[in-house]
Amino acid sequence: MNSLGELEAHIGDCHRCSLGDTRTRLVFGVGCQDADVMFIGEAPGRNEDLQGEPFVGAAGGLLDELLKSIGLHRSDVYIANILKCRPPGNRNPLPSEIETCTPFLREQTRLIDPLVIVTLGNFASKFVLKTQSGITRLRGSVQHAGRFVVLPVFHPAAALYDNTKRDMLFADFARLKELLEAGAEKRPAEPVQQNLFEW
Ligand code: URA
Repeated sequence: MNSLGELEAHIGDCHRCSLGDTRTRLVFGVGCQDADVMFIGEAPGRNEDLQGEPFVGAAGGLLDELLKSIGLHRSDVYIANILKCRPPGNRNPLPSEIETCTPFLREQTRLIDPLVIVTLGNFASKFVLKTQSGITRLRGSVQHAGRFVVLPVFHPAAALYDNTKRDMLFADFARLKELLEAGAEKRPAEPVQQNLFEW
């Protein structure tokens, strides 16, 4: 695959799992193919399912504020989810759904080739880092997955009514700004290979 457009066309009107039968719109992802930072959330919620764009509800409003606090706008970054379709009633993604859907996320990540991946919440952090550690323990710590620097943070939805988590999210975004300013120095120096990361 050479571009996000090609990947999106390949995914098409996906019915590779049963979420294809219940979703309104597939939420491919949004942002800039050259982004230095890629955010990975869990799965589309109700608003995202209706609009076809990730993080457009209340949690998305907080994500926009967090981006603004470090001088970024969503058009500067890339935003995707573990799953591209909404699980009914916002239930947790099933292992089989993750297995079916995440090859597309990997390909998306390979095409964007960000300096930093920010995993939003437990689900994305556990998946990307292949860890059982919870987000409360991981948040704000700089990790690696393959050739990517990974910064796990709380999911913005978890911080909407929790000021302590909200403060921690703003602090972790300040850390993200530092990581981005340090730029490619922080990146593991392996050559670009076909399989860019192990997860
Ligand atoms: N929560 C997520 O994890 N992703 C979205 O796109 C919206 C809410």
